[in-house]
Amino acid sequence: MRQPLVAGNWKMNGSRASVATLLDGLKAGVGEVRNAEMAVCPPFIYIPQVQEALRGTAISWGGQDVSTEASGAFTGEISAAMLLDFGCTYAIVGHSERRTLHGESDELVAKKFAVARAAGLKPILCIGETLEEREQGITEQVCARQLDAVIELEGVAALADGVIAYEPVWAIGTGKVASPEQAQDVHAFIRGRVAALDNAVAEGLRILYGGSMKPGNAAELLAKPDIDGGLIGGASLKAEDFLGIGLAAN
Ligand code: 13P
Repeated sequence: MRQPLVAGNWKMNGSRASVATLLDGLKAGVGEVRNAEMAVCPPFIYIPQVQEALRGTAISWGGQDVSTEASGAFTGEISAAMLLDFGCTYAIVGHSERRTLHGESDELVAKKFAVARAAGLKPILCIGETLEEREQGITEQVCARQLDAVIELEGVAALADGVIAYEPVWAIGTGKVASPEQAQDVHAFIRGRVAALDNAVAEGLRILYGGSMKPGNAAELLAKPDIDGGLIGGASLKAEDFLGIGLAAN
């Protein structure tokens, strides 16, 4: 059985005060979430604050990105070792906002996956098509290309150490959630592609859905056989909403 993972991607949001309030709310309510593992991915600068607050709780944390480099003259970058130094379990790689706004290629994202994994982090690999690509009918090709970049670099077994997040770009921050059937179709495609190479890896692989997931639509998404949790943006910024998604997995 795959334990659902509900991970919050806070993106570039928060202040010391709002982070403290959010963490207090999460700590107070997480006990009722019985079925899902909960994790938060704050902006790097708030990771020490998150570690202080969440140490010893059931909630884990991670970075929103990671450098391909170990150390040295890489201004603005954060290494996998630094994330581990602050207790991170996860590192998101290849979020569509980084692919689009920072020009990250499939190859670069695959390298980030590899570096995070080698360091002992669990990479959360984001893949997904734009609206234009969906309308062209190439959703599966796009997801396959983004997934294959990691498999080609690291081998299929590497996926056992990570998580995949299917995030259709047209559903991110738009309020336009994929229907449970639309999401399930792509999740099944992803799992099938992995299964063709290694069935055991495919069976154990957690594939999260991301894109306008809210407490009100989470249960029907999570009820689908190949949807193993969520990567949550906007709704992860309010404790009640984020916990509500975790409760939907109960
Ligand atoms: P929203 O939940 O705000 O649509 O964001 C999803 C996302 O991009 C999570 O990584």
